[in-house]
Amino acid sequence: MNNNQCDVLIIGGGAAGLSLALRLADQDIAITILSKCELTEGSSLYAQGGIAAVLDNDDNFENHIKDTHVAGAGLCKEDAVRKVVEGAPDAIDWLIKKGVKFTVEDGPEFDGVDGNYHLTREGGHSHRRVIHAKDATGKEVETTLESHVRAQANVTILENHIAIDLITSQKLKKRNGARCYGAYALDTDNNKIETFAARAVILSTGGASKAYLYTTNPDTSTGDGIAMAWRAGCRIANMEFVQFHPTCLYHPYAKGSLISEAVRGEGGLLRLPNGDRFMQNHHLLEELAPRDIVARAIDYEMKKGGHDSVFLDISHKDKDFILDHFPNIAESCEQYGYDMTNEPVPVVPAAHYTCGGVLTDLNGRTDLKRLYAVGESSCTGLHGANRLASNSLLECLVIAKAAADDIAERLKRKETEDLPSLPDWDESKVVDPDEQIVVSHNWDETRRFMWDYVGIVRTRKRLERARNRVELLQEEIVEYYGNFRVNSDLIELRNLATVAELTIECALTRKESRGLHYTLDYPDTNPYAIDTILTPNNFVGHAPIRDWSSS
Ligand code: FAD
Ligand code: SIN
Repeated sequence: MNNNQCDVLIIGGGAAGLSLALRLADQDIAITILSKCELTEGSSLYAQGGIAAVLDNDDNFENHIKDTHVAGAGLCKEDAVRKVVEGAPDAIDWLIKKGVKFTVEDGPEFDGVDGNYHLTREGGHSHRRVIHAKDATGKEVETTLESHVRAQANVTILENHIAIDLITSQKLKKRNGARCYGAYALDTDNNKIETFAARAVILSTGGASKAYLYTTNPDTSTGDGIAMAWRAGCRIANMEFVQFHPTCLYHPYAKGSLISEAVRGEGGLLRLPNGDRFMQNHHLLEELAPRDIVARAIDYEMKKGGHDSVFLDISHKDKDFILDHFPNIAESCEQYGYDMTNEPVPVVPAAHYTCGGVLTDLNGRTDLKRLYAVGESSCTGLHGANRLASNSLLECLVIAKAAADDIAERLKRKETEDLPSLPDWDESKVVDPDEQIVVSHNWDETRRFMWDYVGIVRTRKRLERARNRVELLQEEIVEYYGNFRVNSDLIELRNLATVAELTIECALTRKESRGLHYTLDYPDTNPYAIDTILTPNNFVGHAPIRDWSSS
């Protein structure tokens, strides 16, 4: 029994994890943050467009709420949408007070949400409402939050620690109600598995877009939190809604290089290789239609014309305007030989965002007591069948605050018992892996069949093919996992296969087309919108999801 102990264990150092840590850090609470790479490596760091918030007098909450519902194709939960939208100005104010420098219209002087910020526009938004730091909003937010978190004496940061599994009453064979006690994590620097005991555990591990061959996401997005929660007995919802971003730079060496939707928001046009525009044939809002529609339109045009890509063209705008608004995107295009100030740039859709995830309430509570999920790993009901652009960082910030308040309140009321001693990870029956090729082969195979069979346009036959493949892979992975010492590739592969299976299961369950889930077998949308909720065999949530205290 060699446990690390803390009050709050946060797994993941993105916008969700870091903002939750900071919301708690001014109290007498011991916090540990685990991150599987450097602290900030994750999707948040690469966010470009910005954060959606009603900050302009010509805009109002009802507009933002309506746009979110329209993008979400009837599946968003009203209470979630309202809470997040109405929490936006405060969240932005909090970031500004922490020192985040958002882009201003003219001059650098500003001191709160009344400052004269430049608000950009993205697909599906009826108003300009996306506050941003040029085209690198995520970097500005993450590095600012990181500097505060690193300065906190009560926050322990453990980088290169990949969480493997949650420790629950089921695992410990305790009969006193299902709850989470902590987690096991592999310290990849020292190749040692450590045990973490905590009064509350937060999954802020991000999304699962790495399950696809082509993605805008960094390597961290392997759905670890979603898979861990599922294994721990929590329900998972709406995994069929995988958002494909329409415009990822097309180049053999440009690994997931996103070209922000803000480029279209500021006048960028989509063109076929012959220069013709095509979005007018697909939606009234043309280039600024919701993301699912633009991605599907590009997929359709590429397949119809046999093109490798379409083109994004903003070269009709003034060069200084482009370089001022999109300096980083212009630089990364240039790196691959394209001058976006002067020529159209080839683009293709790529997997970008996981709308589904661990089912939570609006304080981030999951089915398992003392386990929270926040950010892209969660499913709060905000995004419905398709996330509205720039609502994701916003959700991270607003729900992290709600979760922090909830946790602080419960710790204050001393509703938690002493931390029990947890058993160490058992490595007595495993040996060092003999064939790493099995792991890398299965990684590649999973990502390819997900791309080919569970992509933008689906059919029942393709989904069933994918299900057959994933079932075989799961058998191999379970056997391999049972016999060999774990390393991060194996941990991630196991999770990737689980999220692939959950995605396929959700997609097969939905017998209609809605939002991001489009199937040729059921092209119409049903009159009633219903969530796809998968319940594991070891389901733990026999109490209502909002009941956290009675363990
Ligand atoms: P992440 O930021 O992905 O952080 C997850 C963290 O968990 C990482 O630190 C990771 O290392 C860690 N982790 C994962 N698994 C484990 C494990 N097993 N053990 C320990 N640590 C683990 N959204 C917007 O709203 N606006 C935008 O402009 C925008 N632009 C985007 C641009 C790009 C290129 C991408 C990829 C996404 C963009 N998004 C945007 C989406 C948004 O960035 C993400 O949804 C959001 O940042 C997710 O935050 P998160 O904290 O939930 O997860
Ligand atoms: C982008 O800048 O296009 C990404 C915005 C988002 O994913 O919300």
